[in-house]
Amino acid sequence: MRIVTSPATMQRIALDWRRHGRKVTFVPTMGYLHAGHISLVQRARKAAGKSGIVVVSIYVNPTQFGPAEDLSRYPRDFRRDRHLCEEAGVDVIFRPSDATMYPGRAQGQYSTYVVEEQLGRTMEGATRPGHFRGVATVVTKLFNLVLPDVAVFGAKDYQQAAVVRRIVENLNMPLRVIVAPTRREKGGLAMSSRNKYLTPIQRPQATALWKAIRLAKQVARFQVRRRRPPVRADKLKKLVRWQIQKQPDARVDYVEFFDPQSLAPLPRVRPGAHMALAVYVGKTRLIDNGRI
Ligand code: PAJ
Repeated sequence: MRIVTSPATMQRIALDWRRHGRKVTFVPTMGYLHAGHISLVQRARKAAGKSGIVVVSIYVNPTQFGPAEDLSRYPRDFRRDRHLCEEAGVDVIFRPSDATMYPGRAQGQYSTYVVEEQLGRTMEGATRPGHFRGVATVVTKLFNLVLPDVAVFGAKDYQQAAVVRRIVENLNMPLRVIVAPTRREKGGLAMSSRNKYLTPIQRPQATALWKAIRLAKQVARFQVRRRRPPVRADKLKKLVRWQIQKQPDARVDYVEFFDPQSLAPLPRVRPGAHMALAVYVGKTRLIDNGRI
C-alpha cells in the first residue's frame, strides 16, 4: 500500500494508471474509519476487480464545515486508518494537506468553488449553509486528482450522494457513482466517526434516529393496509419528534419526508417515500435516513 500526500504526485500516478488502462475505483473519506467506510472499500474492490486499483482519500475538508462546527475537533487517527486500509486491500491512500488542497486560501486567494443549486438546498443544505458547496468542491478536486472510473459513496449521507450524482451528470464527469448501503451497530445506530463524541449515557439514546425511521415506516404502511389515505407529512413529523424527544439528551434539528429521486418534500407519506433526519444528542449532531 502506498501513501501519497502531494496532489501533483497523486495526479501524475493517476494519469499513468489511465495510460496503462488500469481500472481505478475511489472512496473519498474524512478518516477515522469504521466498518461503514470499510464496506465502501470492499464495494470499490469488487468494482475494481483483481487487477484494478482502489484509492481511499483521507482528508478532513475545511470548506464543508461551518465556522461554529467541529472542524478542529473532528476525530483523527491516521495510524489506525492506515492499518484498516492495509487490511482491506487498499492500494493507495491519498492524504493531502490543507496547504496543498487549498493553496492561498488562508491569504484569501483561493476563489473557485462548485455549487449544485437544487438538491443541496434542503435538509443538510438548509441547516448547514455552505456545507454542500464545500463537499461539491472537494469531491470535484479529488476526482480531478484521482481520475477514478468508479467512486463509491455511502447511503448514510443520502443527500450528499444525490448531490454528487447530480454534479457528475451535470458536469459530464467520466465516472460512475455507486451508492452502498448504510452499515449499522447492533441497536440500529448508523456507524459514524462522530459517534465517538457520544458518552455512554448518550449512546443508547442515539438509536432514537433509527427507531424513528422504523416508526414512520410502520405508520405509513399501516395506513395502506387499512386502505386509508396516506398519512400527512406534518402529522408524521410531529409524531416522530415527540418520540425522539422522549430521550433526555435528544433535540431534533429536522425531520423530512421526500421523493427519493428529486428530494422534493412530500405533503403525504406513502411507502417508497424517503425519510431523513438530523438530531442533536447532547452536543453531537447525528444524521440518518431510510426508505419508508
Ligand atoms: P465521511 O463522513 O468520512 O464519509 C465517507 C463516506 O463513507 C461517505 O460516502 C459516507 O456516506 C460513507 N459512510 C459513512 N458512514 C457510513 C455507514 N455507516 N455506512 C455506509 N457508509 C458510510 O462524507 C464524507 O466523509 C465527506 O463529506 C466527503 C465525501 C469525504 C467529502 O469531504
